[in-house]
Parts: sequence; C-alpha cells; structure tokens
Amino acid sequence: MRTQVAIIGAGPSGLLLSQLLNRAGIATVVLERQSRDHVLSRIRAGVLEWGTTELLRAAGVGERMDREGKPHDHIHFGVNGQLFRVDCHGLTGRRLMVYGQTEVTTDLYAAQDAIGGTIIHGAEDVALHDVTSDRPRVTWVKDGERHDLSCDFIAGCDGFHGVSRPTIPAERRREFEKVYPFGWLGILSRTPPVPQHMVYVASESGFALCSMRNAMLSRHYVQVPLTDRVEDWSDARFWDALTERLPEEVRAGLVTGPSIEKSIAPLRSFVSEPMRWGRLFLCGDAAHIVPPTGAKGLNLAVGDVFYLQEALVEHYATGSMAGIEGYSTRALDRVWKAMRFSWQLTMMMHRFPQDTPYDRRMQDAELSMLLDSAAAQKAWAETYLGLPY
Ligand code: APR
Ligand code: PHB
Repeated sequence: MRTQVAIIGAGPSGLLLSQLLNRAGIATVVLERQSRDHVLSRIRAGVLEWGTTELLRAAGVGERMDREGKPHDHIHFGVNGQLFRVDCHGLTGRRLMVYGQTEVTTDLYAAQDAIGGTIIHGAEDVALHDVTSDRPRVTWVKDGERHDLSCDFIAGCDGFHGVSRPTIPAERRREFEKVYPFGWLGILSRTPPVPQHMVYVASESGFALCSMRNAMLSRHYVQVPLTDRVEDWSDARFWDALTERLPEEVRAGLVTGPSIEKSIAPLRSFVSEPMRWGRLFLCGDAAHIVPPTGAKGLNLAVGDVFYLQEALVEHYATGSMAGIEGYSTRALDRVWKAMRFSWQLTMMMHRFPQDTPYDRRMQDAELSMLLDSAAAQKAWAETYLGLPY
C-alpha cells in the first residue's frame, strides 16, 4: 500500500490535517487504534479561537459550528467574591466560539466521509520505520493481519500516549515538563449556563470555572487535590463547592442539576522538542500538553496542523523543503507562547498547597494588574483569542 502522507491518530489533529491535505489534492491514510465511537465519546474543552474557526471553515467543516456554536464577546473573572468583565471583542475585534471538541471531531469525520478520506480504525501495533530516509513506512496489525504502508511523510497526531514521539531517539529529544499539584473535577449537566456564560474564578477555596456547551448544557469545574477521586464527589458536594467559590452575582444565576458526566483531570504542561525528525512531524498532544486553564489544547493542535499543511502543500506544489525544514521552529514558537499563557493563568488563579502569604499577595497583584489595566487586558485577550499563525 502507498500514500503521500500517513497520519497516525484520528483525533482532531489527524482528521483536520487529512481533510486539509485531501482538499489540496494530497493523498492520506489515517491510522487510528480505537473505534470511531470511542474517539467520539471523549469529552474535552469547548472554546475555539478565532483562527481555529477560520481554519475549520477553510477545511469545509464550519457550517454546523456557525449554526450551532455560540460566539462569545466577553469573559468574566471572579476574584475574591468580585466579578470583572473583560471585553475581548472590544479589545481585539475578534470573537471566541463556544463549540465542543466532540462536535468538531464529529464534523471532521462527516467531512472526511463526504470526500472519501481513508481512515482505518482498530489499527494495532502501529510502528514507524525509516523516518529519516526518503521512503518512510508505517506498519500495523488489523484483525490479525499485518499491513505495510509506504509514504513520503508521516504525521504523528497520536496524542500524548502515542508511538510517534518515542520514535524520535531519546538522545535527540528534549522534554520540558511541569506538573501542578491539583486537578480539575469537571461535570457536564443538562442545565442552562450561568448568565455570564464563561467565568474564571479565583477564590479562597481554590479555582472554579463556569462554562457551557449550549443553552441547555453546562460545563463546570472546581480545583481539587490530586488525591481526590471522582467517587468522593457526589453531585451535591460538587454544587456546594462550586457555589461557595462563585461571586454573588454568578451564584444568583446558577442552576444546578444531575451530572451526566463527571471526571478528574490532572494539570500538566509538557513540550517535546523538536517537532520534526526526518520525515516525521509531531502535531498536537503528541508534542505538547497544556493545562486546561485557557482552553489552548485543541487550538494549539490546530496551529500545528496549519503550519504542517502549509509546508506540505508548498512542497507538493513546488518541491520546496523550506516549510518542512522550518516546521518545528515555527510551530514551537507559537507553542511556547501558548504554554506561557496557560501556565500564567494557572499560576495566577489556583490555590497551591505550598503557598506562602507572599505568594498569595503576588497572585492578587497579578490579577489586579490584569483587571485594572486596559493595556494588560488587551495583551491577555490577544492571546486568549489566539495568536496569529
Ligand atoms: N496508534 C494509532 N492511534 C493512536 C495511537 C497508536 N499507537 N496512540 C494514540 N492514538 C490515537 C488516539 O486513540 C486518539 O484518537 O491518536 C488520537 C490522538 O487524539 P487526541 O489525543 O485527541 O490528540 P490531538 O488530535 O492532538 O488533539 C488535540 O489537544 O488538549 C487537547 O483536548 C485537546 O484532545 C485535544 C488535543
Ligand atoms: C470548557 O468549556 O470545557 C472549558 C472552557 C474554558 C477553559 C477550559 C475548559 O479554559
């Protein structure tokens, strides 16, 4: 079997890359370990940067997002009981889109089906070969049978636990990691969102976030110790913890109800350099993880896909290797800026077990720097809405 670009992983990175390349006339094969149902059952963040919405439209997958997604102009901060509004649209002229990652993935699958994209599910033991040669290969096993695919390039879009990153020799990789000493307990409930829609809260008891998926679906989070388990958290305990952290005006509009999903996610920042090794490229979670604070995970993956498809389209049109050789440097520049943003928002808004009174005052000072200064808010909003590609 032969293709131009082999793509490992059918998460948002792999599917979007395949879609963009197919539309440019470049052949792909996507190899996914799980079933389609499994991929579509994962619940992830739901805030799309402006640039992400534009790229989805360019890929022919913007229609349902524009119909059902909710554009957002403002973000709210709750700080020690007080509510602040940041006018992201007024400051940047751009909007955020609230549209769940699961919906994005559903739309990408539908678009790939419509143009006859090749996605192979249940691919086990995927292995990458000869990635530093001109003729890389990918092998896998499906239904007990071994398959072999030769290609020009391999895109490793297989998430944090995938096989692509470890294919780069350990002595050629540099990994940077920060693990935060808490997690986010998140619940999804069929309740209307709070009237402010999106509120990031720093309180004496820790961080909380009110978010939404649509007019009757809310997503809320509270910071919890890493030792907590989901079983420790009844719905009643969750709503009490959230309510207690919210400023009065937000609390007044909070509607509670049974959870339909509940999980705890640890927070970590991670980057692996470089993002290219010979003819292998890493995209999305395969190369980097951000804490959920600021919702950069999916958006960062989309940025990588943008640079990679641009490099590959240029290569197949002109033979140039410039974009390919520059991919890692170009992608990492944007990655580190988003890393900084997520890290700063995380550090500023959470309670840390080792906090000294000095550290707490520093957090307060960071927050008032942001909330008292239009210039600081503009800089913050520019990154929140997405740095340019
Ligand atoms: N072989 C084949 N497929 C694999 C393998 C493997 N060895 N390992 C992992 N995969 C698949 C996973 O099953 C998954 O469907 O790769 C896919 C990776 O998808 P994601 O983890 O969603 O990663 P990505 O596509 O980069 O998505 C961007 O950023 O912060 C996050 O929430 C955000 O998930 C989103 C991500
Ligand atoms: C979400 O809606 O799940 C969400 C929103 C904003 C974040 C993180 C998660 O910063």
